[in-house]
Amino acid sequence: MAASRVHFMLLAAAVVLLFIGIAHQHDHVRETLNNAWQASKGSGSSPSASLEPEGHGVVAPGTPFVKSNAPSFHEIALKHGTDKVTDHHYWLMYDKYFPAIRNRKLKMLEIGLGCDMNYGPGKSYYTWLEYFPHVDLYYMEYDAACADKWAAETKGATIYAGDQADKVFLQKFIDETGGDFDIIIDDGGHTMNQQQVSLETLWKIVKPGGMYFVEDLQTSFMQAYGGDTMGGKDPNKHTMSKFIYELIDDKLQGDGKRHAISAEMRGIDCMREVCLFHKKELGT
Ligand SMILES: C[S@@+](CC[C@H](N)C(=O)[O-])C[C@H]1O[C@@H](n2cnc3c(N)ncnc32)[C@H](O)[C@@H]1O
Repeated sequence: MAASRVHFMLLAAAVVLLFIGIAHQHDHVRETLNNAWQASKGSGSSPSASLEPEGHGVVAPGTPFVKSNAPSFHEIALKHGTDKVTDHHYWLMYDKYFPAIRNRKLKMLEIGLGCDMNYGPGKSYYTWLEYFPHVDLYYMEYDAACADKWAAETKGATIYAGDQADKVFLQKFIDETGGDFDIIIDDGGHTMNQQQVSLETLWKIVKPGGMYFVEDLQTSFMQAYGGDTMGGKDPNKHTMSKFIYELIDDKLQGDGKRHAISAEMRGIDCMREVCLFHKKELGT
C-alpha cells in the first residue's frame, strides 16, 4: 500500500515537471517569434511591407513611360487646354512614344488647328511648340479664314488652308513641304472619308521609323461622321475602324495583302479613341 502511494506521487511529480517544461518551451517559441517580428519592423521591412510590389500600381495621368524631369505631355497639354487631355486620354499614347524623341529635331504635321472648337485655335499648337523644343511644325486647316488669321498672327508653324480629304490639296502640300515627317497627327474633321484618304495619301511622307496617329476614332460609330451606328455590323459602311481591322489582318496574315501601306507598318498600337501607325525603319 505504502509502495503504490510512493509510485503515485512519483508519477504526479513527473506529470507536473512535464507541464512546466512544455509551458517554458511555449514561452520560448513565442519570445523568439516576437523578437523576429520586432527586428524586422526595426529594419523597415515588415512581412506585409515586403509583399508590396515595387514600382507597380495605378499610373497617374502624366506619368511618362520614360522617366524624365521635364514636364510631361499631359502637364503641358493641360496647361494649354487642348481636349487631347481634357475630353480624351491621348496623353497615354503621347507620353508613351514622345519622351524618347522629344529633344530631337522633328518635322511634324497636325491636321486641325481647333478653329471649330469652343476654345478656339491654338491649344495643341502651343502644346507642341512647348513640348518639342526643336520642332518644325506644320498645320492643315479647312477653315481658311481662321487658318490665314492664325498664320498672320503667329510665327511658330507653317499653316496650310485646305481639305484633308482633297487629294489635289494633299499632293500640293507634299510637293511644297518636301514630306519626310517624323510625326503626323490627324485631329481634323474625323469623318470616315477624311481619315482614310489622309492616311492613305500622307503615309508616303512619313519618315522610316516615323509615326502617324489618328485621333477621335469613336466617330466610326457615329452617324454624323459617316460611322456605323450598328456597332460595326452594317456591311454598307466602310468605317475607319474597319479599315484599321483590315490593316491589322494584313499584319497578321501577310503584309500588304489588302492594303499596300500595311507592308510598311512596323505595327499598329491602338488605345482608347486613338491609333498609332508606326512606320518600319529602313531595311527592316
Ligand atoms: C478637333 S479640332 C482640332 C483641335 C486641336 N488640334 C486641338 O487639340 O486643340 C478639328 C479641326 O479640324 C478642322 N477641320 C475640319 N474638317 C477638316 C478638313 N476636312 N480638313 C482639314 N481640317 C479640317 C476644323 O476646322 C478644326 O479646326
